[in-house]
Amino acid sequence: MTDTLEKRHALVTGGSRGIGMAIVEKLLLENCDVWYLSRTPGEAVHLEEKANALHCTLSWVECDMADRTSVETALETVIKEAQSIDILVNNAGITRDGLIMRMKDEAWDAVLAVNLTGTFLTCRTVGRLMAKQRKGAIINTSSVVGIMGNAGQTNYAASKAGLIGFSKSLARELATRNVRVNVVAPGFIETSMTDVLPEALKENLSTQIPLGRIGNAEEVADAVCFLASMRASYITGQVLSVDGGMAM
Ligand SMILES: NC(=O)c1ccc[n+]([C@@H]2O[C@H](COP(=O)([O-])OP(=O)(O)OC[C@H]3O[C@@H](n4cnc5c(N)ncnc54)[C@H](O)[C@@H]3O)[C@@H](O)[C@H]2O)c1
Repeated sequence: MTDTLEKRHALVTGGSRGIGMAIVEKLLLENCDVWYLSRTPGEAVHLEEKANALHCTLSWVECDMADRTSVETALETVIKEAQSIDILVNNAGITRDGLIMRMKDEAWDAVLAVNLTGTFLTCRTVGRLMAKQRKGAIINTSSVVGIMGNAGQTNYAASKAGLIGFSKSLARELATRNVRVNVVAPGFIETSMTDVLPEALKENLSTQIPLGRIGNAEEVADAVCFLASMRASYITGQVLSVDGGMAM
């Protein structure tokens, strides 16, 4: 059962491709008008036709999540257009991998800026709006790496683990206002983020996944839509792993 009777407004960061685009598509199917933030419209522009067929709107707003002014301006635009936001999905994320001995400050700062500070900025502004509305659902995207750690990803793991503590704290702050905050923690998902890995490494990684395969973006999007829906109305402050059993 979905919430398809009631039209809702959803905002997705990094919706231009990969997991974010799958989330945008599923939210449209769940009767949401969707705004997505990214530096370029990306592959998700092809979803416009689908949105029209579903009598929903899909709007792209230019935004560099690493730039505070850009985020604030983009949020202003969305709020002006949408008036209310029911669902916020913080999905934009980057990696700049390397062992800590060789990690440049730039790689540390860039990952923290997009993954953690970007999420802080959207949650601060949209959280304020949701608190006023006295309803809302926020879903932040962590990673199995934020739970288990991974050599060569200290910056990424710090940002993703940070998101978990951040989200639990925010869930406590906003619970009395009927705003729920949850986290999805994807495992190894087939997108452009993982395409760059060598085939041999991907095969080796698959052997460490109890379900024996890499996941797909739609499987993460399903978990996000569940947490955004009234089916999850009594769930807040939780981390839902979508990782084939990697982090049990
Ligand atoms: N693919 C995986 O295996 C995996 C595993 C765990 C967690 N995740 C997380 O899922 C999320 C989506 O990852 P993905 O695999 O779809 O990656 P992706 O690289 O395919 O997509 C990332 C998205 O973030 C956006 N983005 C990146 N930097 C941005 C910036 N500065 N400003 C605005 N938008 C920006 C991109 O435009 C894109 O839409 C990320 O937060 C990632 O850390 C992915």
